[in-house]
Amino acid sequence: MNESLLLGCGNLGRIILDGFLSNSMKISVYEKNQKIQKTLKKLNKRNLEIIDNLDGLKDKTFKYILLCVKPIDSLSLIKEINTKISTKFIFVSFVAGLETKKISETLKKNKVIRMMPNILVEVGSSATGVYTKSPSKIFKKEISNNFSFFGFLEWLKEEEKMNFYTALYGGGPAYIFYFLEILNKISCKNGFSKKRSQLMVESLLHGTSKLIKNNSQNFSDIIEKVTSKGGTTEKAIEFMKKEKTYEKINNGIRKASVRSKNITKLLNLEKL
Ligand SMILES: NC(=O)c1ccc[n+]([C@@H]2O[C@H](COP(=O)([O-])OP(=O)(O)OC[C@H]3O[C@@H](n4cnc5c(N)ncnc54)[C@H](OP(=O)(O)O)[C@@H]3O)[C@@H](O)[C@H]2O)c1
Repeated sequence: MNESLLLGCGNLGRIILDGFLSNSMKISVYEKNQKIQKTLKKLNKRNLEIIDNLDGLKDKTFKYILLCVKPIDSLSLIKEINTKISTKFIFVSFVAGLETKKISETLKKNKVIRMMPNILVEVGSSATGVYTKSPSKIFKKEISNNFSFFGFLEWLKEEEKMNFYTALYGGGPAYIFYFLEILNKISCKNGFSKKRSQLMVESLLHGTSKLIKNNSQNFSDIIEKVTSKGGTTEKAIEFMKKEKTYEKINNGIRKASVRSKNITKLLNLEKL
């Protein structure tokens, strides 16, 4: 695959960069933050080039230009790219809330894709939402192949769905960690050390994901299997249901989705 250019190498960008590097794909990185720049330069990888400024790239060809900055920094950077690079490329945006239409207003002649991964790209297990306007079968196959190291891609038919996708799956690892943190705290409060609690909660997670892999049963079947009638777990689950845990989590996801929609509105009005 031809070289790609990564714009922004913070939390997500760094994970994506590591994926490119460990798959021996050539990549250039443009990162504003001096401290991160220094760290990247120390990596000293043959397939990595650190770019200090965007001048001098006018005729350079990139297969993908990957945008991985916060929404607030995104539009000005897209405008800068448009003036600094005149060759054709495929533009991939990871920015929450930024619509493909808004990007295309500036990068008129280039194909624009929107992706919403999560930090599980680091372990090749991100269910990544992807949207682009009217993709051909061949194009979808090419993108799925080139980004297979993310995990798997979920092609969205309507861009609108990206708000929900961002809310549930973009932030998904944080919700799982939040739940694990709750279990950890409860374990500590009940007399187990921090270290042992962490170990035991981790074993719950590892074991559960192994069980999911080994069983074709759905989640509610597994819950039923571990919940004996009249037993202790049943009591806890009954209580959680009565306390409307589902509704509370659903409302949390809804809040994230609304935030994504609001970012879109602000970006469209260029008021962020
Ligand atoms: N983190 C996640 O798990 C996740 C998941 C899905 C999607 N996303 C999306 O990915 C994007 C990046 O998120 P993040 O958490 O990685 O943010 P981040 O840690 O803030 O990383 C962005 C990096 O880009 C740099 N930057 C800002 N403006 C720049 C410019 N004009 N040129 C070059 N570099 C520039 C920032 O430097 P300064 O800090 O100095 O400004 C920062 O180092 C966001 O739009 C987010 O919606 C993130």
